[in-house]
Amino acid sequence: MPKSVGLSKDKNWWRQAAIYQIYPRSFADSNGDGIGDLKGVTSRISYLKSLSLDAVWLSPFYPSALADGGYDVADYRDVDPRLGTLADFDELLAELHKVGIRIFVDIVPNHSSNLHVWFKEAIEAKPGSKARNRYIFRDGKGEKGELPPTDWVSHFAPSAWTHESVMGGKGNQWYMHWFAPEQPDFNWDNPEVEKEFLKTLKFWADRGVDGFRIDVAHALKKDLSEPLRSLPVFETLEERGNKGKGILADRDELFKIYKQWRKLFNQYDPPRVAVAEAFVHPERLPLYASTKTLGQCFDFRFIETPFEAAAYKESVQDALELALKNKSSCTWTLSNHDQIRHATKMGLNSAVDRRSWMLSDGTSHPLDAAAGTQNALAATLFILALPGSTYMYQGEELGLHEVTDIPASQIQDPQYLRNNKMDKGRDGCRVPLPWQKSGSSFGFGTGGAHLPQPSWFADYSVAAEENDPNSALSIYRIALGLRKSLITEEKIKWHKTGNPSVLHFSRPNGWHCITNFRGESYPMPKGEILISSHPLTNGKIPAGTTVWLKK
Ligand code: GLC
Ligand code: CA
Repeated sequence: MPKSVGLSKDKNWWRQAAIYQIYPRSFADSNGDGIGDLKGVTSRISYLKSLSLDAVWLSPFYPSALADGGYDVADYRDVDPRLGTLADFDELLAELHKVGIRIFVDIVPNHSSNLHVWFKEAIEAKPGSKARNRYIFRDGKGEKGELPPTDWVSHFAPSAWTHESVMGGKGNQWYMHWFAPEQPDFNWDNPEVEKEFLKTLKFWADRGVDGFRIDVAHALKKDLSEPLRSLPVFETLEERGNKGKGILADRDELFKIYKQWRKLFNQYDPPRVAVAEAFVHPERLPLYASTKTLGQCFDFRFIETPFEAAAYKESVQDALELALKNKSSCTWTLSNHDQIRHATKMGLNSAVDRRSWMLSDGTSHPLDAAAGTQNALAATLFILALPGSTYMYQGEELGLHEVTDIPASQIQDPQYLRNNKMDKGRDGCRVPLPWQKSGSSFGFGTGGAHLPQPSWFADYSVAAEENDPNSALSIYRIALGLRKSLITEEKIKWHKTGNPSVLHFSRPNGWHCITNFRGESYPMPKGEILISSHPLTNGKIPAGTTVWLKK
């Protein structure tokens, strides 16, 4: 096993870590082909270091036809040639470890790509064969089997079933896919699938990978007993509240799999860690986040929590209570590669229907970009002061906004292409990062960018923000640096503010965090000001501002 240099020995490093998500195709391009790559990430390590990160999480970089931005994996144990080689990966990992940054990779166990060797075999094989049993193949309904086996719906296409002929099969069966037709779901009742993923996890853990982000962790197990039950409504798809007995998701048998994974993780020193992406009823989150299973689970509530004091406090209280139930720690997140950038959400009137706003290329309602970025920074300082880990998404440290006007002809996301173009999709937060104020692709690479960058990216570039002490980048750098030295026991205490728009909490070592969400300026309590997300006005905390104090 490769030796990790420069990493802390603390087995609990993940409990209150600052983790930064890299979407590799859009981070930095080393060879000018318009696509970000692993060498690009390696070339920016000093930038990552300047953010005092504990870890980075890389979205999929595996061979993929990009039917779903890389979440359609053709080979789980290799690197897409457009993004580099395994040697490039090893180099990136070693360089990150040298500067004390750990690395998470994304594991996509619910489905593979249709180009995975197993699916290619399955499509050519006969019904009932060993090869077909690794996926979910069924005969259709109707006189000639011309109708899908059930009414199940998919996230990206109307039906969760596609006829095998679409993928070149010569028979008359259908296969199941919860996402795009190019993402066939595995049959997790087949022990071969279990074994294969243990092999993949071991492959990366042996290479020195520190953690895993588990994609759609709630969906691996389905109720495949015959006759298959009906589930026609998308809203019930995640089957919230089914208490472990749902049809397509959140079934109790999942935890047997994750306990096995935990055994594997614990064979390493320090134990490998994992974080589940699971859209389930909040009461079920502790099952995924238990230290006996995956250890942590994303809590997405801040992605939708309105920027208001009462809503923020309630979210925090709730999440802290859940984390206590399973000895896990909280996970705070405002953005990721699937969401409209939060600076944009926070700069829009909350009454705006964001879906139709996006479909209008962001023209149907005005965006207050400056207010959005300001509120976003206040929210960041608020969550960075909470007990638990913070997962950030590349570009948020620049206060970057959603790109709303990508021309239809250039959209790549299946969420747009497959949903009758009723949803603009997620490309707007995946546009390659601006590093320079000008030049080819704003310094992303020497060639173009695989998604078009708007001209206003210049003002949000690293170069534009680097030397401005009030920029988002400067605030992130200072706050993340401070946070490292301030982290203490996972406890908070709320303080009365006498103002419904202001929250004030402190940590056991005298680290105080005060956020004025909206309304009038709030008098500054006594103490040494460590950082303020926005300049104070006459010594008071203005609306949309968080201050950290030491008392
Ligand atoms: C997760 C990913 C998303 C992807 C989906 C299917 O939700 O975050 O990007 O489309 O899984 O793999
Ligand atoms: Ca490239």
